[in-house]
Amino acid sequence: MSIQVNNITHIYSEGLPQQSVALEDVSFRAEDGEFIGIIGHTGSGKSTLVQHLNGLLKPKSGTIIVGGTDITAEGVLMRDIRRKIGLVFQYPEYQLFEETVEKDIAFGPSNLGLDEEQIARRVKEAIELVGLDYEEIRRRSPFDLSGGQKRRVAIAGVIAMKPEVLILDEPTAGLDPKAHQDVLSMIEKVHAYENNIIILVSHNMNDIAKLADKILVMDGGRLAMQGTPQEVFSQEEKLTSMGLALPQSARLMKLARDRGLPFEGNYLTIAHAEEELYQFLKRD
Ligand SMILES: Nc1ncnc2c1ncn2[C@@H]1O[C@H](COP(=O)(O)OP(=O)(O)OP(=O)(O)O)[C@@H](O)[C@H]1O
Ligand SMILES: [Mg+2]
Repeated sequence: MSIQVNNITHIYSEGLPQQSVALEDVSFRAEDGEFIGIIGHTGSGKSTLVQHLNGLLKPKSGTIIVGGTDITAEGVLMRDIRRKIGLVFQYPEYQLFEETVEKDIAFGPSNLGLDEEQIARRVKEAIELVGLDYEEIRRRSPFDLSGGQKRRVAIAGVIAMKPEVLILDEPTAGLDPKAHQDVLSMIEKVHAYENNIIILVSHNMNDIAKLADKILVMDGGRLAMQGTPQEVFSQEEKLTSMGLALPQSARLMKLARDRGLPFEGNYLTIAHAEEELYQFLKRD
């Protein structure tokens, strides 16, 4: 399974005074098992881009090939696409609607034509994958849960569909540090367990640097850069000009380097910076 995005352009309110070109000639590929991070300043087109990947939006021009199927073609069945590609919107908890957690998570799988037992199994598996206690939470109302729990239930609803591609649009926005970390660990766990393609939109450079195999940098509707975290975060000036920063560990080590300390690399994670500092301090 791979995704091929070829030269897509999207214009909102075309022909009207408020017309806005949200995507312009965007192309990239995502391969099986890849973890893709999407970063970019607010309004740069990230959400518009990911909504094209599950067929929610159609491009004005260009094509998107998902597992060999052109999802931008006329007559393609959206139901089949959404089965393969799960999209978790920003603030997904606002979409919870059933009277129990269990029913809410079962909604997607029950539209896949599975039998009761398979649905129940998927619901249990998804609840456990997002780190919630199945027996404790299954019969509770989703509206009585904490913000972090609601977020996990909403994500579980998409995971229960077992999508081959899981797209998450700022899944940690507005969470406290503990819930933020929990949701991230959960994404890592799902990725390891399902070995699916993950596409994560985030404003958090630390998370993206740590998790992504490949980063797409959006700027004013264009794909301004793409590459590995090492490649992307080695271009600080370019990122700064687009309103983006380096991960904190890289910033810290760069400040130390500016003061004459011998830290030459590009320190994308706290663990890497920690190791380097430890080796440096241990020397005599
Ligand atoms: N439904 C819409 N109608 C008209 N214009 C829109 C619509 N949705 C987004 N836009 C415009 O398209 C551009 C890209 O928006 P988009 O939501 O994709 O950005 P984003 O990168 O996801 O931003 P953020 O980081 O704030 O979520 C912006 O200029 C935005 O104002
Ligand atoms: Mg957005």
